[in-house]
Amino acid sequence: MDERVDHTKINGRVCFCLFVRWSCLIQFIFVCFLGGPVSSSLFLFVFQVVLSHPASSCAFFLTILTSILWFIRDSLKVSSFPHRHVLITGCDSGFGNLLARQLDGRGFRVIAACLTEEGASALSSLASPRLKTLQLDVTDSASIRRAVEAVRAEVGERGLWGLVNNAGRSIPIGPTEWMQLEDFRKVLDVNLIGVIEVTLAFLPLLKKARGRVVNVASILGRLALTGGGYCLSKYGVEAFSDSLRREMQHFGINVSIIEPGFFKTAVTRPDLIEADLRRLWTRLPQDVKDSYGASYINDCKRNVKAQDFSLGILCSPDISKVTWCMSHALTARFPRTRYGAGWDAKFLWIPLSYLPSFVSDFITNLLLPAPKNEKKKKE
Ligand SMILES: NC(=O)c1ccc[n+]([C@@H]2O[C@H](COP(=O)([O-])OP(=O)(O)OC[C@H]3O[C@@H](n4cnc5c(N)ncnc54)[C@H](OP(=O)(O)O)[C@@H]3O)[C@@H](O)[C@H]2O)c1
Ligand SMILES: *[C@@H]1O[C@H](CO)[C@@H](O)[C@H](O)[C@H]1NC(C)=O
Repeated sequence: MDERVDHTKINGRVCFCLFVRWSCLIQFIFVCFLGGPVSSSLFLFVFQVVLSHPASSCAFFLTILTSILWFIRDSLKVSSFPHRHVLITGCDSGFGNLLARQLDGRGFRVIAACLTEEGASALSSLASPRLKTLQLDVTDSASIRRAVEAVRAEVGERGLWGLVNNAGRSIPIGPTEWMQLEDFRKVLDVNLIGVIEVTLAFLPLLKKARGRVVNVASILGRLALTGGGYCLSKYGVEAFSDSLRREMQHFGINVSIIEPGFFKTAVTRPDLIEADLRRLWTRLPQDVKDSYGASYINDCKRNVKAQDFSLGILCSPDISKVTWCMSHALTARFPRTRYGAGWDAKFLWIPLSYLPSFVSDFITNLLLPAPKNEKKKKE
């Protein structure tokens, strides 16, 4: 197949840069913590200690060699982007919108599925004529069928190279007891059932191209930090993607999962989340309200504010970190199984998900408000 590897992208330069970057980083850490002259001598000292024993020097060079080989393997790309079609769902805003424009800029044949007509025309005006838009509501089977027909006509015998299941919603999100079944359903229908139905519908076209599926889950698919349908849906996307990946390997289809931390988009907008929390609160029966205490809703709102504040610290509003992962999954010769996007995902949430439940419960409880009246009763 035309799965030629672009060797021009990798050469000694990459390895050299990697080496320089690493030694600079280690030097930098020493300089920061210990001051200039001490640091270089300590650096040399550690280096000498490692190299003084054959076993530790072997381990050291093997680690470096493995890292270099991994880096080279990871940076190999597939070629002939202009012949590859990629369908992205939820392109009206956020990650999907940026990814569509970026892939379009790199020469891919992007088919951007938007929920609304306005979203579609706004995106077209920002992209090249190569980019095609279509309207797709992932909760509507008829809309999905129409999209399959449109895409089939567009891709022809080549098939579909990439499907990015990105469309999603977060609201209603909040305490489980405040939800009605309908609230769970609203989120699950888009984030989980939508992903499943769209994937099943496009599998024949993906098989034809021996293409890629990229599913957007979340760190909330590794750690259930809140109630409502959102975490459920993302856990579901993880499981669906895992079984799909194992089965589709035999057909040469790769399935990757993106796990973003918190990023500034419509999904995390504090004003929208707050307004919906108030809606859930006002319709609660009085005895339930009493059990939480009148200040609970304000604590919740404060929490949303705190989350907004930590958003500012934990991760930049730079959503290109997420689209970088998506593009890697679509363009790399060897795509990864999982991509944690953002510092908070890599160094806080995903590591936390591996710790015993009592640790993650303790930390999660620090972030969430507690019902006032129950606390008093215990005392
Ligand atoms: N932002 C984060 O911190 C974060 C973290 C982890 C995971 N994620 C996930 O990343 C994905 C993209 O979200 P985003 O952050 O880029 O937020 P976003 O800007 O709200 O993007 C979601 C897109 O999905 C569309 N959509 C909603 N319901 C749909 C439906 N039934 N059919 C088709 N499209 C629909 C939305 O259209 P409208 O704008 O017209 O409603 C919107 O364009 C979501 O799956 C989200 O769960 C986000
Ligand atoms: C990608 O697909 C190839 C061919 O089916 C398979 O050998 C490889 O393990 C897959 N990679 C991932 C990360 O699933």
